[in-house]
Amino acid sequence: MKNLLVNLVDKNKKYTEEGFLASYIPALLKANKDDLGIYVVDIKNNEEYWAGECDVKFTIQSISKVVGLIIALSDNGRDAVFKKVNVEPTGMGFNSIVNLEIRDEKPYNPMINAGAIVTTSLIYGETEERKLERILNFIRRATNNEDINVNQEIYESEKETGDRNRSLAYFMKSNGILEGNVEEVLDLYFKQCSIEVTAKDLARFGAVIANDGITPWGNEVLMSREVCRIVKTIMVTCGMYDASGEFAVQVGIPAKSGVGGGILATVPRRYGIGIYGPALDQKGNSIGGIHVLKNLSEELELSIF
Ligand code: DON
Repeated sequence: MKNLLVNLVDKNKKYTEEGFLASYIPALLKANKDDLGIYVVDIKNNEEYWAGECDVKFTIQSISKVVGLIIALSDNGRDAVFKKVNVEPTGMGFNSIVNLEIRDEKPYNPMINAGAIVTTSLIYGETEERKLERILNFIRRATNNEDINVNQEIYESEKETGDRNRSLAYFMKSNGILEGNVEEVLDLYFKQCSIEVTAKDLARFGAVIANDGITPWGNEVLMSREVCRIVKTIMVTCGMYDASGEFAVQVGIPAKSGVGGGILATVPRRYGIGIYGPALDQKGNSIGGIHVLKNLSEELELSIF
């Protein structure tokens, strides 16, 4: 496995030249565009394998949408959550606003920005600090890494430049989808997007999802089987944004990308996979990462279909 991963990173590194770093959050431009790494956790024997840049920290960005969905579902139950957000792919960019007005009042799914702002607003907690602590604690347990924290510089950069998210949130407030204090919800959303992880952390999180919501290393239940099933399903249909269909055909495993360059992927009952490659394609997914996953899926026959 180790050799296979090294070969796949070497072979696909060239694609990073064709990608671009996310620039709409200025602090993300500090990443090294050439970086590419993959980390795999085999849940059957808890063995870990990696190649490339797997200890480089980057922000979780949209992969936090998976965490927000898990906590919102666990706190509220599926009926309450899906009363506020649909589960249909959009075919639009991740921060598109158009569907909110012309198609349906509810956001299309929890993996686009509008939907994630809603799931974040549904997270329980007496104070905003408590809600963030619950998100951080979840990620720390799911990655087996106590050091997980918010990157303050990226959080501030997001907050300063987050007008598109602000407009999505205020629009949803105006039609009653989003309740409560919009600025507080957005602040929590910006913070959750700015949590720092590595490819290794993502692979461990993927292993928990592959293992039906239970940590393979300590048998701790982090979510119900039902929540895990729903989350995996929505990752397949919506996790790679408007490239989800193509990704399902080419790779065929539940996955979620972020503009920080991470991809969280999970092969049910087999592997958790974490990718880091900050050079993105036109749709905002790690360009080298997608190629590595495609090759890995072909080599090991990972497609669930
Ligand atoms: O809200 C945003 O736009 C970012 N914090 C997250 C977007 C993102 O990661 C989309 N991913 N491909």
